[in-house]
Parts: sequence; structure tokens; C-alpha cells
Amino acid sequence: MRRRRTLLRALLAPAALSLLHTCSCETVQGHPIVTECQLQNFTADAEVEAKLKLHAPRKWPHKLDYLLSTLKRRIIDRQIPGAIVELGALDGTTSRMLRRLLDEFDKSNNRPLHIYDSFKGLPSRRTEDGNQTRPEDGKGGMATTKARFVDGFTKSSLRLPDGIHEGFFGDIPAADYPSPIAFAFFDGDLYSSIYDSFRQVYHKMSPGGIIMVHDYTVDGLFPGAKRAIEDFLRGKPERVRECYSIIGTVVKKRSSSSR
Ligand SMILES: C[S@@+](CC[C@H](N)C(=O)[O-])C[C@H]1O[C@@H](n2cnc3c(N)ncnc32)[C@H](O)[C@@H]1O
Repeated sequence: MRRRRTLLRALLAPAALSLLHTCSCETVQGHPIVTECQLQNFTADAEVEAKLKLHAPRKWPHKLDYLLSTLKRRIIDRQIPGAIVELGALDGTTSRMLRRLLDEFDKSNNRPLHIYDSFKGLPSRRTEDGNQTRPEDGKGGMATTKARFVDGFTKSSLRLPDGIHEGFFGDIPAADYPSPIAFAFFDGDLYSSIYDSFRQVYHKMSPGGIIMVHDYTVDGLFPGAKRAIEDFLRGKPERVRECYSIIGTVVKKRSSSSR
């Protein structure tokens, strides 16, 4: 009798797990998403689309729409003071869009734009990052050069960022991160990279400032990103209250300034 019950449990457990999986996850563009914060009715900023879609890399992904529309509506239009930073810039595809957006909508303010990358690719994965499925998602994956980043700006006739900082996020001196920061985009993929991004930037954020983090998914290629956000924000007043596609958004509270 006991053996039969154990056998039954063993047979039912995977079915129950897969039911749980289909219940708690959906997919956006092939990525598993987090349903509790997922915006159902995100509408892109019409001006952003009109001015910037033309320059989009290949096709215009929904997540870029969300990123740029949020920056315009919630930082520039509301005049939240501070710099714009991107941690994990690779060849500068998103950095160039950030520059275009600032050129188009933030002319009078002249906000500084700073980008950060090792240009040597990713650091090592940790257990929080789960299994590696593609060769380029491990140590040294996605390596590029600063020259290539600069070249992309030059060829597009765009002004270079005010700071192009080369090194691993945690090793770059604190003084090289501007203060205050109004808007931050974290795209370092891995647990340690996202955690270090928060360590360097969180306490410099203006009240009402926004941190958007890529790879906020329940599993996918980089599950460590979501874990790092949750670990860093534990005990702090902020949470990811809104997400779209695979970007999670954190709004810095007025009362919080500690690390
Ligand atoms: C997914 S790519 C960034 C893509 C870019 N944001 C875009 O939209 O085109 C990830 C980048 O983060 C960089 N990176 C990851 N972890 C890092 C760390 N801890 N320190 C410095 N750079 C890091 C990698 O070198 C790589 O260029």
C-alpha cells in the first residue's frame, strides 16, 4: 500500500509541477515572464515612436519601446534631476538610442550620459545564474572593444557619452558613477553583475528616479538577474512593481537613501 502511494506520488509530481509552470508563467517574444507585475496595456509614447523608430536596430522590439517611453515620460517630462547611466552596454545599440532620445527631448537640460562595460564580456556565472545553455552566456561571452563602441557612435554622427567607463562594475571606483542619477538601465545579465550595479547606483538615485533591469524573467537564459534584484532590495522600501516584456522597473522612493 505504502509502495503504491509513493509510486503514485512520483508519477504525479512532474505533472503537478508542469501545471504550476503553465499557471504562473506566460511568454513574451519567447521569454517566460513574471505575471504579477506585468503591464497588460502598455502604450508607447507617440513622440518617441515618431522620432526614434526610424533609428531602431533592425526591428523595433517592444522592450525598447517600454524603456525609451518610460525614460521620456517619467524622467524627462517630469524633470527628475540627474544623469542617465547604462551598465552593460556591449556595442552601444541601446546607448545610441539613449543618446538620440536625449538629443531629441532633453536639449535644454543637457543631462550627462555614462556607460559602463568590461568590454571583456561577462564574468563567471554563479549558482544563482542556473545552467548555461549557450556558449556566449558564460565567462568572457559577449566580449567586444571600446573602439567598436565608439565607432558605432561616430558612424551614426552621435555625440559620445560623457563617460565611457571600462572595467567590471564592482571594480570601477564609486567616484566614476555620477550623482545624482535619474535613470539607470542594468543589462549585465548575471547575478553578480546586476547585484554590483545596484551596489554602485542605488544610493545615488534621485527620489522618483528609475532603475530598469533587463532579464526580469522567471527563468530564461539569465535567471540570476531577477534573483539579484530581489536579494538587493530585501529590507529596502522599493520593489519591482511594474514590468513589461522582460524588463523590470524599480522607482526610487523619496524616503530611502541608504545602501
Ligand atoms: C547583454 S549585453 C548588453 C547589451 C546592451 N545593453 C544593448 O542593449 O545593446 C551585456 C554586457 O554586459 C557586460 N557585463 C556583464 N557583466 C559585467 C560586469 N560585471 N562588469 C562589466 N561589464 C559587464 C558584458 O561585457 C556585455 O557587454
